[in-house]
Amino acid sequence: MRDPAEFHRAAVERLRAEVPGRAVVAASGGIDSTEAALLTQEALGDRARALFVDTGLLRAGEVERVERFFSESHLGATVVPARDRFLSALSGVVDPEEKRRRIGEAFVRVFEAEAAKFGADVLVQGTIAPDWIESGGALRDTIKTHHNVGGLPKDLALRIVEPLRDLYKDEVRLLARHLGIPDPDRQPFPGPGLAVRVSGPVTPERVEVARRANAIVEEEVERRVAAGTLPRPWQYFAVLLPVRTVGVAGDNRVYGEAVSVRIVESTDAMTATAVAAPTELLRTIAERITRDLTGRVTRVLYDVTDKPPATIEWE
Ligand code: XMP
Repeated sequence: MRDPAEFHRAAVERLRAEVPGRAVVAASGGIDSTEAALLTQEALGDRARALFVDTGLLRAGEVERVERFFSESHLGATVVPARDRFLSALSGVVDPEEKRRRIGEAFVRVFEAEAAKFGADVLVQGTIAPDWIESGGALRDTIKTHHNVGGLPKDLALRIVEPLRDLYKDEVRLLARHLGIPDPDRQPFPGPGLAVRVSGPVTPERVEVARRANAIVEEEVERRVAAGTLPRPWQYFAVLLPVRTVGVAGDNRVYGEAVSVRIVESTDAMTATAVAAPTELLRTIAERITRDLTGRVTRVLYDVTDKPPATIEWE
């Protein structure tokens, strides 16, 4: 993409040609899907409806934040409550690809039901190039099936339209500035949400532990970014590991789980470097997580692996 204004004009024109009827847009509150929603609404007006699904796998305060954004941006979005559907779809599942497949399927069933109510036969998604490349679209091996690509069921009742499918993240951010989307450099958050940051079984209790640990990592990193003592990293988050480990709380032995903290630098998510985080930051994070989650989290680790050989997310 050389010129975001030209991309914007052409994308709106293409959407008008591709969608003669009504469309629903999968909006997660992230940059990619917000752009897809804005372009679609500009192209189709009342014939488009953005849907924000509350999966129960979102970060602390995220539903409220996204709702506020949608109402301020006049992007009329419908919030669809679906926590139970997602949690029961994930019950007993530990394999990361199976988690993505079940999540993809749950999303699609929600979109199909909402599309039927709205009279739409098209689903617009904010899929970008790395999503489908790493889902096996161009590389020989599938690295991860991004839930919005390979996770789609074969019997999908909606036609998929993806206005951003050729863009990389740096281009998405350029376009976000052009479209006036707030905080275009904010960190990406995966569509399957905390399900892929809870390694092992996804239970409401483990999701809550991951959510609280993640909120602490975000707060401590953002505090230093705001103070100008840390450049804003590409991504910074916590992952709950399925590892029991012994600790002490007061005079008692406790047997909790381990959390891994990940802070990486990247330009397009295709490769990434683990940040040499200041010891003071890591110690504060470890101290806060083990205090806030006493007995539940007994050990905090820092992940120093680049991508490759690791990926950014653990799953
Ligand atoms: P990985 O872990 O593959 O992540 O190095 C690359 C980038 O993609 C995000 N990610 C996802 N985004 N659905 C998404 O929408 C997914 O299934 C998914 N998996 C990873 C990840 O946060 C990073 O920015």
